[in-house]
Amino acid sequence: MHLSVVGLGKLGACAAACFAAKGFDVIGVDIDREAVSAINKGRAPIYEPRLQALMEAARPRLRASQDYRDAIQESDVSFLIVPTPSMDDGQFSSRFVEDALGQLAAALKESSKDYHLLALSSTVSPGTTDRTLIPLVEAVSGRRLNTGFGMCYNPEFIALGTVISDFLNPDLVLIGESNDFAGEQLVKIYEGVCENRPHVARMSIVSAEVAKLSINAYVTMKISFANTLATICEAIPGADIDAITTALGADRRIAPHYLKGGLSYGGPCFPRDNRAFVAFAREHQQDAVLAKATDAVNQTQVAHIVTKILGYLGSRTDRSVAVLGLAYKANTPVIEESAGVRIVEALLKEDVAIVAYDPIALDSARERFGDKIRYASSMRECFARSSLCVITTTADQFRTISAADIVHNPTTIVDCWRILRPALLDDRVQYVALGKSTVCPQ
Ligand SMILES: NC(=O)c1ccc[n+]([C@@H]2O[C@H](COP(=O)([O-])OP(=O)(O)OC[C@H]3O[C@@H](n4cnc5c(N)ncnc54)[C@H](O)[C@@H]3O)[C@@H](O)[C@H]2O)c1
Repeated sequence: MHLSVVGLGKLGACAAACFAAKGFDVIGVDIDREAVSAINKGRAPIYEPRLQALMEAARPRLRASQDYRDAIQESDVSFLIVPTPSMDDGQFSSRFVEDALGQLAAALKESSKDYHLLALSSTVSPGTTDRTLIPLVEAVSGRRLNTGFGMCYNPEFIALGTVISDFLNPDLVLIGESNDFAGEQLVKIYEGVCENRPHVARMSIVSAEVAKLSINAYVTMKISFANTLATICEAIPGADIDAITTALGADRRIAPHYLKGGLSYGGPCFPRDNRAFVAFAREHQQDAVLAKATDAVNQTQVAHIVTKILGYLGSRTDRSVAVLGLAYKANTPVIEESAGVRIVEALLKEDVAIVAYDPIALDSARERFGDKIRYASSMRECFARSSLCVITTTADQFRTISAADIVHNPTTIVDCWRILRPALLDDRVQYVALGKSTVCPQ
């Protein structure tokens, strides 16, 4: 089977490389000339761990084009992975999906092929495919669903920083299908791609659209629950968030993932998927109170850590804070809705001077903050420039912090994910672990 991937961004480039690395002939299509050219030169168009190596291995089977006709002519199945930006009401805009599908449908109209499968991976508001996308393809292509073309909704559950391993080893392959034949085609593809044996869930297209949003709404609810628990633990001497969540996670009804207790969730998916779930419920006259509370906790979590930092800053003459970690998580340059960025923004409002460091997100941070903050080229520079450091991601580099990095005496370290080994520090350091009680000097 020959595949095409339309939209070669953070998810699409990885999907195309994974398909090609697993032996499929893949043609990528994007409106962005640079992304197309990068792929044709064997270069990853975006940063993602393992992507460059995978692209090199997959190169003979992966090429890219700006012409949608190539996707129709040279493949049997087209995966659409284009952006679906959030609108003011929280719903997803499908305008890019409609653009891309309209072009594919026009190419389909001209094609002499009998059948082509369209698989949508972009996150959409439930109902979009049946209500808008299928009628669009039928109108433009002049073909009928399930005879001239098939349609599937096939979202991916990946996290930036681990896209490749998540894609190749999913817990779940979710397939919303226009008919059995369409779904069966995707099952065959995933049998050739997955390195594990994931659960395959097949259902109607609208059910899959609801399932996708519900999974992320549920996961964010878990995160906000764990974060609430972490904050409560800080007020109870002797209470240890990690001991508690490990116990919770051992219960099969709960499971351990996304139950760490730390900073707010961010990035390009979780916050907006949660809000989209609220909007989707509202559209059906339901009040998604759990999802709303999840979002409210997520906002509060940043306010909580900022209050804590200001407490430690107290009446110090040095009104500077070093923020280690600006990406929304480790191993990605993406800073969208990241806790680190939101902490910096809140501290700037309090006239706190910021020096920031991130192993790979500094360029993104520069675009966002310009000269409002200082950028350090190493962790050590952060410790030299400030005696109060906040660690906001679990980047491996941060885990190595030891007494050798400390410059000022005293130095306060606020470790939001409890990744440091206190035994490696010395008595110059006041170590503050989020989720554990520490007496804050007034
Ligand atoms: N990135 C994630 O972590 C993630 C996870 C799950 C789902 N998703 C969903 O996947 C979709 C894509 O996300 P992303 O992060 O890869 O986006 P992205 O912005 O990184 O990449 C999108 C790509 O699509 C291209 N594009 C835009 N319009 C196009 C068109 N008409 N034809 C061809 N190409 C077009 C852009 O040039 C860009 O290269 C979104 O709906 C997102 O919600 C993303």
